[in-house]
Amino acid sequence: MIFVTGATGRVGGKLVESLLRSGKRVKVLVRNPQKATIYQALGVSVFLGDLNQSDRLEEALWGCDRLFSIPPNTMNQAEQEIQLYQAAKRAEIRHVVKLSTVKSDPESPCQFFKQHAIAEQYLKQSGIKFTILQTNSFMQNFLWFAHEMKTKGTLALPMRDAKTVPIDIRDVVRVGSAILTEEGHEGKTYNLTGSELLSLQEIAEKLSIVANQKITYIDASPLDFKQTLIRLGVPEWFAEAVTTSWQIASKGRPTLTDTVTKVGREQPITFNEFAWDYKAIFT
Ligand SMILES: NC(=O)c1ccc[n+]([C@@H]2O[C@H](COP(=O)([O-])OP(=O)(O)OC[C@H]3O[C@@H](n4cnc5c(N)ncnc54)[C@H](OP(=O)(O)O)[C@@H]3O)[C@@H](O)[C@H]2O)c1
Repeated sequence: MIFVTGATGRVGGKLVESLLRSGKRVKVLVRNPQKATIYQALGVSVFLGDLNQSDRLEEALWGCDRLFSIPPNTMNQAEQEIQLYQAAKRAEIRHVVKLSTVKSDPESPCQFFKQHAIAEQYLKQSGIKFTILQTNSFMQNFLWFAHEMKTKGTLALPMRDAKTVPIDIRDVVRVGSAILTEEGHEGKTYNLTGSELLSLQEIAEKLSIVANQKITYIDASPLDFKQTLIRLGVPEWFAEAVTTSWQIASKGRPTLTDTVTKVGREQPITFNEFAWDYKAIFT
C-alpha cells in the first residue's frame, strides 16, 4: 500500500487518482474530515491527522510499504518532513519518493528552496531507500494569475526577460506513478522539466490566443509583486518566499531534461496543450 501526504493538494489529488486507476492500494494523510469523506467514498484508506502531530505519524504509516511525500510549503516544512521520514524508518517503509524543487539549495534566500534542501539531505542519509523528484515550476501556477489576466489583461511577474521550463503537474504525476510502481529508481534524484524554454512574454502570447484576449507581460518589480501578494491576503513570509523564488528563477539558466519521456514514457505536455486544457479558467 502506498502512503501519500499532501493528497488533497494539486499534485497529490492527481497522484491518488492515477494510482487508483492502476489498481494500487492507497492510504492518505488528511487533516480535514470533510475532505477525508471524499477519499473514503473512493475506497481510499484515510488517516485523519496532521504532519505536525509527529507522535502519530508512525501509526499513520502502518500497513504501507511506500511513501510519496508531497510537503506543504510551511515555515517548518523541513522539520515536518524529517519527522515523517523518522516515522517512515520506524514503520519500515521500504521506499520514499520525495517531491522537491530543482532550485533546492541549503543556502538559498528562498525559504521554500532552503527547506527542501534540508529535508533532501536528511532523507539521503536516513538509510531509507529514496527517490527525489526535483521539479521545475508548475504550469498550473499560471492559474493563480487568471483573475488578473481576465480583469486587467496583464501578467505581472518579477521574471525580467528570463526563460523558464514549466512542467505540467500531470507529467510530475506520470513520473511519480512510474517510480512507485516499478523497480530501479532507488537512490536517484531526477530533474523534471517540460519540453520548452519559454519567456514570460511567450507564455503571455500563448495565453492571449487561448483566452481570446490580449495579455501583456509586465516585468514587475519584486517589491510591487510582493505587495500585491500581501494585499491579496498572503502572509508576509510566504509572499517573500514566492517573490524570491521568481527572482531566483529570473537569474537562472534552465536546461531541458528528458526525464518525463524516459521515466514517464510520454512526451511532456506542451504549454499550449496545458493552456487549452484549462481554457475555461483562462476565459
Ligand atoms: N508550485 C511549483 O511550481 C512547485 C515546483 C516544484 C515543487 N513544488 C513543491 O510542491 C509542493 C506543493 O505541492 P502542491 O502544489 O500539490 O501542494 P498544495 O496544492 O499547496 O497542497 C498542499 C497539501 O498539503 C497539505 N497540508 C498542508 N499542511 C499540512 C499539515 N500540517 N499536515 C498535513 N497536510 C498538510 C494540504 O492539506 P489541506 O487540503 O488540508 O490544506 C494539501 O493537501 C511543495 O513542496 C512545493 O515546494 C512546487
